[in-house]
Amino acid sequence: MERVSTIKELRQQITGWRKAGDSIALVPTMGNLHAGHLELVRQARQRADRIVVSIFINPMQFGAGEDFGSYPRTLEQDAAQLERAEANLLFTPSVQEVYPRGQALQTIVTVPGISQTLCGVSRPGHFAGVATVVCKLLNMVQPDLALFGNKDFQQLLVIRQMVEDLCIPVEIIGAPTVREPDGLARSSRNGYLTAEERSRAPILYRVLSETSKAIAEGRDDYAVLESESKQRLTAAGFKPDYYSIRNAADLSAPSGETGKLAILAAVYLGRTRLIDNLLVEQH
Ligand code: PAF
Repeated sequence: MERVSTIKELRQQITGWRKAGDSIALVPTMGNLHAGHLELVRQARQRADRIVVSIFINPMQFGAGEDFGSYPRTLEQDAAQLERAEANLLFTPSVQEVYPRGQALQTIVTVPGISQTLCGVSRPGHFAGVATVVCKLLNMVQPDLALFGNKDFQQLLVIRQMVEDLCIPVEIIGAPTVREPDGLARSSRNGYLTAEERSRAPILYRVLSETSKAIAEGRDDYAVLESESKQRLTAAGFKPDYYSIRNAADLSAPSGETGKLAILAAVYLGRTRLIDNLLVEQH
């Protein structure tokens, strides 16, 4: 696996692969890699000749008071995992490389509508930070496809809309959420949980699964389901930020017609903010 940290070196390597006729997949990450990221690399390997993984903790997507400073930085372990997963190139640009004029003078990509609900309400500016950096990474690498986890379901929809709106010639692939044996979705932020919080964390998945089962069995009183689920989470010591049943296509309110729904939740467990979601077919 090659390792580069400048756009110039990245482009030199990619130009060589393009000349050889190779297809290229990009897996953008913020590092501290876990089984969810490795699943993205595995899926990339099935679909493309060359895999580029970027590790960049993007300051633009963190709000004031969020965990940019304490976000886990584990570059050497990450590189060893990527080597074993047979990634071809690790791209680790500096903040200066990505935002040479500073963030204040950076052109920003905002994706209206889909960015303005759920996490977009609790984390103002977050999705503009995500869309801007992903747009830049796509332009730097110019991959045939890029892969993102379904766990960050709203992020995936924001990126899909950006790619469509800006006519970026790339296929966006969403990969299944990887879970711990007890159901907790794999996330770099799980490392913030105390042992006691970690033992309670899978309740989030259990509550989501119960909502999903109720919908699959025909319940369509979504507001009641949402409020019952919030009460269960609160009783278990979580502080729900949101718990919402939406249309999976665009996160609009369910209309009562058949189609895929997303049950999306963001909760605080102690100081850690966890997100998760499940998709379910409504009948
Ligand atoms: O999901 C993430 O890790 C990040 O939001 C991403 C897509 C790498 C952009 O910084």
